Amino acid sequence: MTHEPCRNATRHLLGLEGISSDKITSLLDLAEYYAQMDCRTTSSRDVLRGRTLINLFFEDSTRTRTSFEIAGKRLGADVINMSVPQSSINKGETLLDTAATLNAMHTDLLVVRHSQSGVPTLLAKKVDASVINAGDGLHEHPTQALLDGLTIRHYLGTLAGLTVAICGDIAHSRVARSNIYLLTTMGSHVRLIAPPTLLPNTFRQMGVDIYHHMDEGVKDVDVIMMLRLQRERMSTGLVPSAREYFRFFGLDHRRLNLARKNALVMHPGPMNRGIEIESSVADSDQSVIQKQVEMGVAVRMAVLDDLTRGKDIP
Ligand code: CP
Repeated sequence: MTHEPCRNATRHLLGLEGISSDKITSLLDLAEYYAQMDCRTTSSRDVLRGRTLINLFFEDSTRTRTSFEIAGKRLGADVINMSVPQSSINKGETLLDTAATLNAMHTDLLVVRHSQSGVPTLLAKKVDASVINAGDGLHEHPTQALLDGLTIRHYLGTLAGLTVAICGDIAHSRVARSNIYLLTTMGSHVRLIAPPTLLPNTFRQMGVDIYHHMDEGVKDVDVIMMLRLQRERMSTGLVPSAREYFRFFGLDHRRLNLARKNALVMHPGPMNRGIEIESSVADSDQSVIQKQVEMGVAVRMAVLDDLTRGKDIP
């Protein structure tokens, strides 16, 4: 018997493009509530009691997958981490047949990471579960941008009026894309800093300022967000060498001192120390990289809560 899914786009989190500032603010406020409460208490364990969350990751992950698992468990959900290499996908089952199989088990929340842009959106059309994009190809990584926004708000009190530099491999970064949507919607000024080979012209239409020289780009900014050089996604060598890349686009103490005093240093991780960021800068007092990870759990709790609120358990 076929199962006709309910197709209501607002019950998914597939990206931040087009999401209103009110919606982002309400998610950040809820995440702040979860960040402030002692997560080890049992008071939030009823929020997802009786719900099933499946982590379906076709690409490697440490932070995102683990924090969705922790977030789901802290809210009382049954959490399953599906191991893709040991699943029937390995025997040739298609993605859509896999989705139909998980749908038949009455999954409530499906957290999907895939190397191809658009896979979470495709699955959202086929299943009853709320689908959350945990990073798809070069497209979006919405919960990363939300946790970045929450981290900035935690330290600087607001996103409006700040100048945020996003530096590095913009071309291959779904983190950059989601952050541009979130930050411009919330009233931040966004600068993109990268060599021309790593910054496609399409980004010029996203309400950002473009820089090809790191020293100019980081001058007087409030936040420097460094990106990983994603060599696994490059079909040809877009940078001459890691050493050259660090020389022209790496964040060291001299460049950090060109930004505002006490500017925040951020990185979504995983980091290539010594390639995009000097190790001692990543570990400095201005680095909020570990706070980003901490905020990731709170943001994912907020997203899971928000997507299931008011929905009956099947
Ligand atoms: N920032 C991020 O998505 O990290 P992981 O790949 O470890 O999940």
